[in-house]
Amino acid sequence: MSGAIAMNQAWGLKDMLSAMTGLGTQGAPPPQAHQAATQAATLGVPAPRRPCRAIAVAGGKGGVGKTTVAVNLGMTLAMAGRDVMLLDADMGLANVDVLLGLVPARHLGHLLDGSCGIEDLVLTAPHGLKVIPGGSGARRLAQLGNGEHAAVIRAFDELAQPPDYLLVDTAAGLSDNVAMFAAAADEVVLVVCDEPASLTDAYALVKVLSRDFGVRRFRMVANMVRNAGEARALHQKLARVSDRFLDVVLDFAGLVPHDERLRQAIRRQGAVVDLWPSSRSAQAFKQLAGAVDTWGEPARAGLDRIAFFGGQAAPVAGW
Ligand SMILES: Nc1ncnc2c1ncn2[C@@H]1O[C@H](COP(=O)(O)OP(=O)(O)OP(=O)(O)O)[C@@H](O)[C@H]1O
Ligand SMILES: [Mg+2]
Repeated sequence: MSGAIAMNQAWGLKDMLSAMTGLGTQGAPPPQAHQAATQAATLGVPAPRRPCRAIAVAGGKGGVGKTTVAVNLGMTLAMAGRDVMLLDADMGLANVDVLLGLVPARHLGHLLDGSCGIEDLVLTAPHGLKVIPGGSGARRLAQLGNGEHAAVIRAFDELAQPPDYLLVDTAAGLSDNVAMFAAAADEVVLVVCDEPASLTDAYALVKVLSRDFGVRRFRMVANMVRNAGEARALHQKLARVSDRFLDVVLDFAGLVPHDERLRQAIRRQGAVVDLWPSSRSAQAFKQLAGAVDTWGEPARAGLDRIAFFGGQAAPVAGW
């Protein structure tokens, strides 16, 4: 896990000073904070057939629960009958397979060296969740260039049957790897927990993705919180600075409470939503998945960005 991203690299001085005084203050919750909470879970109904929605799960800081959210959200959607694929884009330190007790024979490195196609990488976890393993322990995988990241993203165009959802678990930090995968998705879910470094790193990531990659909307998941009030306050803190300094929309997508069952599930190499479906966190993932399922149609890729399921979109200059 990486530590906090150095604040002086990612923040302007003005941002930082204002945020220092703004963070932690209370006020009326922004209207977005209520949206997810009032969205009824719709997972009881069959999914209408629609284009695949690619959702990147990011957060900036290490250890905030990105993989936990990606795995459990993905499996909850799969349990509700959605066709879900989970790409482990934390290449070099990939651990989705470990979390789910899967043993990959191949990973994205094999795709890149041409020894297999994307379909050959698919592993099947419980409830039909499809996993594309990112590969662990090979330094080369952690040092890929943008051309190789783009090749991974474009490989999804080759899928004979695109899934309903492609969840992309991203690495910690602000690397090109994280930025490219997040920018290629239709939605960016920011996992944030109630620690100053999580907030500053999430802000830094939003800043980079909006300024350099044109990402305009983010959906925040408050992780490891004690209650809804704490989750809303967390959203408010981040929305306050991002509204003020960045041209972005930061919606509140939902929350996951701190739950020891999640750690127990990891030790058993399973997803909490599968092992303990009535646990607090599993219930929260169901709520979150219900909200995700109500999100509107994804905006398809323009010609100026590399996007999952973006067809033959031209690469941005310099990539
Ligand atoms: N809601 C929660 N309650 C309790 N523990 C949690 C919760 N969410 C995550 N954890 C624990 O926090 C640890 C880090 O989680 P996870 O690996 O998902 O983080 P990450 O952001 O993907 O980390 P990395 O940046 O290293 O990829 C794990 O041990 C996980 O079980
Ligand atoms: Mg992770």
